[in-house]
Amino acid sequence: MEELLSQIALHKEEMRAFEAADAPSLEAFRIRFLGPKGIIKALMGEMKQVPAAQKKEFGMVMNALKSDAEQKYESCRAALFVQASTTRPGQDLTLPGDPVRIGSRHPITLMRNRIVSIFSRLGFAVAEGPEMEDDWHNFTALNLDEDHPARDMQDTFYLSKSPDRLLRTHTSNVQIREMQKGRLPIRIVCPGRVYRNETVSARSHCFFHQVEGLYINEQVSFADLKQTLYFFVQEMFGTAVKIRFRPSFFPFTEPSAEMDISCLLCHGEGCNVCKHTGWLEILGCGMVHPKVLSNCGIDPDRYQGFAFGMGIERPAMLKYGITDIRLFSENDVRFLQQFTAAY
Ligand code: PHE
Repeated sequence: MEELLSQIALHKEEMRAFEAADAPSLEAFRIRFLGPKGIIKALMGEMKQVPAAQKKEFGMVMNALKSDAEQKYESCRAALFVQASTTRPGQDLTLPGDPVRIGSRHPITLMRNRIVSIFSRLGFAVAEGPEMEDDWHNFTALNLDEDHPARDMQDTFYLSKSPDRLLRTHTSNVQIREMQKGRLPIRIVCPGRVYRNETVSARSHCFFHQVEGLYINEQVSFADLKQTLYFFVQEMFGTAVKIRFRPSFFPFTEPSAEMDISCLLCHGEGCNVCKHTGWLEILGCGMVHPKVLSNCGIDPDRYQGFAFGMGIERPAMLKYGITDIRLFSENDVRFLQQFTAAY
């Protein structure tokens, strides 16, 4: 028995001193101590030679030895695993870490959020609608005649599955959908992507973004429209910027106007960007046509409204000095990383 105990003490000492340099040496440790032909199994086999009075003590010593071996094995295995998952051979742990790349918002998103947040301060809520639309919501309800040139295949992308499915050419479909819901008054802005079958160039693309605004209530006048847009321009471009309205035509508004702002680059002096006029056209607007109201089940004798629609790309290009509209959709990180505004 004395002999066995001193052997066990030696094994204990060996186990305590053991350090697993790598997975094979740990496996060798397991086989040596815990394997079916290992030291512990062999010592257990000695039990029958231990005198009966000492069997209990021997059993306890052996159990302790076995649990020491198991614990050592587990802790070495955990340490090896952590090492393996965090270090590579030859890696210098004193080097600074790789910087985490922080993304940035797309300039169109920044501009869209800015526009929406200005109108939200006037009580406009955001409404969205489908990009794949039917003819009625995109054209007919908006008072565009059957033979209106905008319906031409050259301008509109029709989807091959059905002649009544197209990609919306403006976000005005959302104003129709909101009016149809019949909850009045309405005060919404509708940001979204629109599609037109145009040749892609530095200045125009076959898809771009718009924000449309709609206000319907009793006693809405053109003065309300002007003041709303004036507030928007002052917030968006600064208080020094002037606005002007030019008469225009849209089938869904009467009267209709286009709004210009004084050129942001030359402040009205005349430059290349404003084509020496001193003005930049930024949106179309007008009083909602009574036929559009009645198309959507709203009584035009009781309710009036104004609507406006603007592109997002153009003001974004002006603000950030971007000269090619195609850059917005090329997903070049070198371009995208330059926009870090908080919006
Ligand atoms: N839907 C028009 C366009 O796409 C813009 C617009 C909206 C004009 C609302 C007037 C009123 O050009």
